[in-house]
Amino acid sequence: MKVEEYAAGIPLAALEKAAAQLSEHYRAGKASGKLRMEERERVAAYLLTRFPATYAAVSAVLGQVGDVEVESMLDLGAGAGAASLAAKERFAGLRRMTLVETDAASVAAGRAWLPDADWVCGNFAEAAFAEHDVVLASYALGELKTAARMQALERAWAAARRMVMVIEPGSTAGFGVVRECRDRLLEMGGRTVAPCPGDLPCPMGADDWCHFGARLERSKLHRRLKHGQLSYEDEKYSYAVVAKEGAEACAGRIVRRPAHHPGLIELTVCRGDRVAVERVNKRDRNKFGAARRAGWGEAWP
Ligand SMILES: C[S@@+](CC[C@H](N)C(=O)[O-])C[C@H]1O[C@@H](n2cnc3c(N)ncnc32)[C@H](O)[C@@H]1O
Repeated sequence: MKVEEYAAGIPLAALEKAAAQLSEHYRAGKASGKLRMEERERVAAYLLTRFPATYAAVSAVLGQVGDVEVESMLDLGAGAGAASLAAKERFAGLRRMTLVETDAASVAAGRAWLPDADWVCGNFAEAAFAEHDVVLASYALGELKTAARMQALERAWAAARRMVMVIEPGSTAGFGVVRECRDRLLEMGGRTVAPCPGDLPCPMGADDWCHFGARLERSKLHRRLKHGQLSYEDEKYSYAVVAKEGAEACAGRIVRRPAHHPGLIELTVCRGDRVAVERVNKRDRNKFGAARRAGWGEAWP
């Protein structure tokens, strides 16, 4: 079933209202469980406006983890399965997926596109976790209070054979959650895979936050619900991927959209211990060519 088919039969005005309510709710940093709306409209609005965005963000993150074989994945706060769907497309060997989600309506929707996965309708702060290669939480840990989040993270780490991935909105609050989770995972012996170049404490200044953007196309209906003219939107996200072993960190990470000037490209690069603008001049032909192709969020040598 396509995501849009779920919304078939719901009047457009009701969908618009639900999408506006959903957007306001998340913008205010509130947890999904606090949304008081008609169930079918709530899930339809999520599927039409947020699901493609979180899918795009997770796909972008998975594009930065290098060559890793993943056979099993545990998805915490899975919603309707956007992250697992992205992982299924990224990891050819992914055979076992367990998705834990408290909202029964999201579980029912997600089963349509991930029918072979193990769906657990329950609270991941309480459920027991079996071992999986990867434990992932996409836009979910931020919905817990700090103490519960840390407990869930520690249990996620214990259940992960290879790595834990935490993805949150690319806001100051979302980045705060990611930074806190990364710090704790490193304390437990983890090694950063991405986005950070190594395991040093994050050098971002107090008024700054590490985030990236994933571009996604908007369907006609998506555009209508967002009252947007553009055929695309950029989903901002923050993330940390931390491995148990064998992580190869990059030398640098481009943490802003590159600025292109005539004969000059400016890249804002995190080197692990500092964030600074690096200038690449056209005279340096090879490097300039690489800088032209380099995108926000990619590793930079
Ligand atoms: C913003 S949505 C993200 C859904 C999905 N991971 C994605 O990336 O599209 C957060 C989801 O986490 C779920 N959630 C929050 N706390 C949870 C908990 N303690 N146990 C299970 N699910 C939870 C919510 O019901 C909601 O579906």
